[in-house]
Amino acid sequence: MVAANKIADSLSIEPPAADCRVFLGDSRDLTAVLSARERGYTGVITSPPYPNRMSYIRELRPYMYRLGYLADGRAAGELDWKAIGGTWGCATSLLNTWTPNGHGQIPFPQFDRIVDDIGRGNALLGQYVHKYFEDIKSHMASLRQVLAPGANCRYIVGNSKFYDTMLPVEGIYVAMFEDAGFVDVSVETIRKRTSKKELFEFIVHAHTRRADVQRRQHPPKSPAAPAHRSISFDR
Ligand SMILES: C[S@@+](CC[C@H](N)C(=O)[O-])C[C@H]1O[C@@H](n2cnc3c(N)ncnc32)[C@H](O)[C@@H]1O
Repeated sequence: MVAANKIADSLSIEPPAADCRVFLGDSRDLTAVLSARERGYTGVITSPPYPNRMSYIRELRPYMYRLGYLADGRAAGELDWKAIGGTWGCATSLLNTWTPNGHGQIPFPQFDRIVDDIGRGNALLGQYVHKYFEDIKSHMASLRQVLAPGANCRYIVGNSKFYDTMLPVEGIYVAMFEDAGFVDVSVETIRKRTSKKELFEFIVHAHTRRADVQRRQHPPKSPAAPAHRSISFDR
C-alpha cells in the first residue's frame, strides 16, 4: 500500500525538464554519429547487450515486420549482424567465417583461454564471445573521443556461463576500460539473476581523467568547462 501511494503521489510531481536529443548510429563509431560540436558528454548510463546470445531481433522481428522496418527474413539477420552480440539468421553463418580484426588483443589475461574453452564445446560460441568483446573494444575507443574530462560512465552488465566455462564479463569490462585509458574503474554487484546460480548483474564504473590531471600530463587544449550532458546508447 505504501508503495502504491508513493507511485500515486509521484504522478503529481512534474518530471525534471531537460533537453533531449536522439541520435541514430552505431556505438562502435560515435565520432561518425556526433559532430565535434555535439561531443563533450559528462555522463553515460547504459546497459549494453550482454554476451549471452540474447537476440533483440529475434524477440522484436514480428513487430518490426508489421511496422515496416524489415522487409524479409534476410533483413532481420543483416540488422542483427550490425548489432553487438547479434546472432540471428544470417548473422549466425557470418559468425562462422568471422575473423578477429587484428586491432590488438582483448586485454584480459585469461581471455584467449576462456574463448578456447568455450569454442571447444561449440566453435560458434567461441567466435561469438570473441567478436562481442572486439565490438565493445571499438565502442570504448570511440566513446573516449566524445566524452569530457572527468566524465562518469555506468555500464550495467551481466556475466555469462557457457557449458562449464564462466565468462567474467564485468572483469573483462574493467580491463578493457583501463586499457582504453579510463580511470577509477570499479565493479559494483547489484543483483543475482534468476537463472544459473553463478549469474549476477553489475555496474561497471569508469571515468575519464579530470581536466586538472590531464593538464599536468599534457599541454592544455580546451579551457572551456563542458556543460553537463549525458548520453545513453541504443539502436
Ligand atoms: C540491453 S539493451 C539496453 C537498452 C538501453 N540502451 C538501456 O540502456 O536501457 C542493449 C541495446 O543495445 C543496442 N545495440 C546493439 N548493438 C548496437 C550498436 N552497435 N550501436 C548501438 N546500439 C546497439 C540493442 O539494439 C539494444 O537495444
